[in-house]
Amino acid sequence: MSSDGNNNLNKGSTPRILAIETSCDETAIAYMQGLHAASHHVHTQAALHAEFGGVFPNLAKREHVKNLVPVLSLVFHDIFNIPVVHNSKEAHSTPDIPKNINPEVEAEIREILGREQGLDELLLSYINSISHEDFESVQNSIDAIAVTFGPGLEPALWVGISFAKALAIIFNKPLLPINHMEGHIASVLAESTTPHQSEIQFPAIALLISGGHTELVHIESWHQYAIIGATVDDAVGEAYDKAARQLGLPYPGGPEISKLAEIWRSKHISNNTDTATSKYLFNLPRPMIHSKDLNFSFSGLKTAVLYAIRDHLKAQGQQELSSDEKISLAGEFEEAVIDVLVAKTKKALNEYGAKSLIIGGGVIANTAIRKAFETLTTEHHVSLHVPEKNLSTDNAAMIGIVGILQYIQGVQGRIPHTQAFNDLHAEGNLSL
Ligand code: KG4
Ligand code: ZN
Repeated sequence: MSSDGNNNLNKGSTPRILAIETSCDETAIAYMQGLHAASHHVHTQAALHAEFGGVFPNLAKREHVKNLVPVLSLVFHDIFNIPVVHNSKEAHSTPDIPKNINPEVEAEIREILGREQGLDELLLSYINSISHEDFESVQNSIDAIAVTFGPGLEPALWVGISFAKALAIIFNKPLLPINHMEGHIASVLAESTTPHQSEIQFPAIALLISGGHTELVHIESWHQYAIIGATVDDAVGEAYDKAARQLGLPYPGGPEISKLAEIWRSKHISNNTDTATSKYLFNLPRPMIHSKDLNFSFSGLKTAVLYAIRDHLKAQGQQELSSDEKISLAGEFEEAVIDVLVAKTKKALNEYGAKSLIIGGGVIANTAIRKAFETLTTEHHVSLHVPEKNLSTDNAAMIGIVGILQYIQGVQGRIPHTQAFNDLHAEGNLSL
């Protein structure tokens, strides 16, 4: 962020934001003190969706309903030392006198959360189980509530939005609707215990690589975004997930493929004397690498993996790939992805005279991709900004950071009981 913004974050006036993210299969809540995530928790549903090889929106919604209150209680435990609840029964068993929520507010909460399969009961029980003193300290320690309103799966987004609206009414706080993709960009601003990364200079280019997005963004200054390139079909994370499926690896496929690719590299790349014939057992295309624009295409790569497996099995008369062959294919897949991502990003950096490169989204958890961009930016004298690994995949701290930036800039947010507040809705296809 700009130095002005940083200077405004002095101790006395550090804004505090509670942030909620439910756009896909992670239920995430964070409590931000300025750019520092004082507490952030992520409950991932990946194992549940693994069975289906992808995320089912209504299953994701049901899981968010189940997990939002327990995750909120983890955050409130970290910050206010309020007991953790794992399910609704525990909250019920706690004496609920004096009640923190009056009948009028309770009716409102029931109306807002009415469509969310019992979330009203879970939230009301939990809030009423908190001592009145603790309730007041929560109320006095939050300046605004930030929530993802898109892009993402609409049923999943809705749960988070309704939950955030309910909390905004209970604690009487403004609501800041946040774009999930802006969250991925801003994730690089998180302050941790390690020294803060160098200042981001503009113009900057952001490369967003996740399960749903592959975009190059030109950033003139914070909040001024122009998409200059995007995938014309599959997102890069999606290509990882689909290729993994073809290799018989579980969902999410990114980390699985990258583990195999790591083995391939340690055998064939770091060892320069290696002459093994299996180094390039497979050859995959680098789709659109020479196209004049800044767009990407990954569905061809996924199809090429399918044909490579089929042709190889046929030629060798095998039923399935050996583990060495899988390693080799995963290695070549990752090389192809890296070649394309680096080539297009390099083109964008040159065309826009960028001084900084920001990379966000789940795929930048990948070590080899990180390394490739370290090399690129060093060669081009451009500063590189990537999130800490635990903030690469979906989380609420990144949503809170955008909320903090908006709050500092004087964005009022949507005030409970106003038309703007009531009108806030999920926007599955929201763009930057
Ligand atoms: O940003 P994210 O958590 O969710 C979306 O907004 O999509 O990104 C999830 C994507 C998945 O496709 C997952 O396979 C991919 O990020 N991913 C990785 C790695 N870790 C997660 N891809 C490659 N290498 C990784 N280490
Ligand atoms: Zn994401």
